[in-house]
Amino acid sequence: MDVRDSYDSAAKAYAEHLSSELERKPLDRHLLNRFAEALRGRGPVADLGCGPGHVAGYLHERGVTVIGIDLSSEMIACAANLNPGLEFRIGDMRALDFPGGSLAGAVAFYGIVHFSAAELGKVMVELRRVLATGGLVLTAFHIGDQVVHVDDLFGARVNLDFVFHPPGVVIEALRSARFTVVEHCEREPYEGVEYQSRRCYLLARAD
Ligand SMILES: C[S@@+](CC[C@H](N)C(=O)[O-])C[C@H]1O[C@@H](n2cnc3c(N)ncnc32)[C@H](O)[C@@H]1O
Repeated sequence: MDVRDSYDSAAKAYAEHLSSELERKPLDRHLLNRFAEALRGRGPVADLGCGPGHVAGYLHERGVTVIGIDLSSEMIACAANLNPGLEFRIGDMRALDFPGGSLAGAVAFYGIVHFSAAELGKVMVELRRVLATGGLVLTAFHIGDQVVHVDDLFGARVNLDFVFHPPGVVIEALRSARFTVVEHCEREPYEGVEYQSRRCYLLARAD
């Protein structure tokens, strides 16, 4: 069972548990509001590893033209069902189906959590290829240097390795791919709301 199969298996349960999580995550809303303000009216923005599409939906409600991309067809089906009228496509962030320089921005909330540090570098190069110069990327991930293996996600059978990243590793992957990190936020986990890990958010500009 690989990452795609795992999220196909967990898609419905994941959507039930997490599709309204932004209501309980004030810092995430704050950063997405700021991101939406910067990108509204500037062109299409991709939500990479969009899962059930709640981040895409939140940005759409704030006037951003957003397209959700996910490896899992079941996740894409859930996202389309929960966010009628929004565009969602099956896709792989390691080889994006967008022309070079065609996106004003991209958001990847926990979309990079299954990539090793080595894969992260290639993913950021691909992301830089599709972004227009001056475009923005906002990413969120778990801080650490461990890999947490999960066989059960909200009651669904999966085979997933969640890769925690030291912020410096993600910053270096962004820098090497010709991004400049312009904002860097970290926070403690929200108790009773989410997995108890520290979180990092990076906003980077494509140079
Ligand atoms: C931890 S979930 C995050 C979902 C959502 N962004 C959120 O914040 O809840 C990771 C998502 O990334 C997707 N994913 C994993 N690898 C991917 C890849 N190479 N390309 C596109 N999506 C991928 C998975 O299918 C899954 O929906």
